[in-house]
Amino acid sequence: MMADRKPLMVANWKMNATHLDAIQMIQKLSYRLELDDFDKVDVVVAPPFTALRSAQTVIEADRMWIQLGAQNVYWEDKGAFTGEISPTMLAKLGVGYVIIGHSERRQHFGETDDTVNKRTRATLSSEMTPIICIGETLEQRDLGQAEETVVSQLEGALSRLPREQISELVVAYEPVWAIGTGRNALPDDAGLMAEVIRESLIQKGSSEAAEMVRILYGGSVNPGNIKDLMAKKHIDGALVGGASLDPDMFAAIVRYRL
Ligand code: PGA
Repeated sequence: MMADRKPLMVANWKMNATHLDAIQMIQKLSYRLELDDFDKVDVVVAPPFTALRSAQTVIEADRMWIQLGAQNVYWEDKGAFTGEISPTMLAKLGVGYVIIGHSERRQHFGETDDTVNKRTRATLSSEMTPIICIGETLEQRDLGQAEETVVSQLEGALSRLPREQISELVVAYEPVWAIGTGRNALPDDAGLMAEVIRESLIQKGSSEAAEMVRILYGGSVNPGNIKDLMAKKHIDGALVGGASLDPDMFAAIVRYRL
């Protein structure tokens, strides 16, 4: 039986927006969405850490349905780890989702499958939802290694994770060559990779658990290409960078079905 997965649209603002910008952007986004949108789609905004508190305040004060995400997390809960942010700190701010292992972190900040695994387990322990990012480079795709790259990143991320926790994950398939390039993956290719990811989750957990996992596509998503991507059976939402900085564009992505 096919699970009824609620679509999920995540705004990854990356290193953009001060806390003041964030308040405005969230208010603008909120004006552009209706209750019915939130009924149909989970909407998450992931600002930089410095804007989380302000974002939380405006969301709560105006009783918005927008949910909060963070862009990273450390795996220890407290201690001598200068510059890091713990899962508890995020959970206390009402953060529900944590983006983990984004390719920019893998590329520039030494993120590995092992650290992705640690962050994933810590995030689950604090009852937040990890959004695990995986994806091949252009070189790997050209060499015909896209599938094995993604499967091996997923295996690394999920190692030592109890089977029953698989259902609590979100996985974002983000081909590195499509991020911030304006060159999105063809819906057919993205759909195929999402299917490969679903298969791999079945092996790691169970088909029941795997059917519950929302698989997002990320990489140059915009209001013009979201509909075709969402038409794919195994794509359940999007992780949106550039286009999410414009409230009009992100709202249009959330409302892709209209
Ligand atoms: P993009 O970024 O939408 O700007 O390509 C996506 C991402 O990095 O999550």
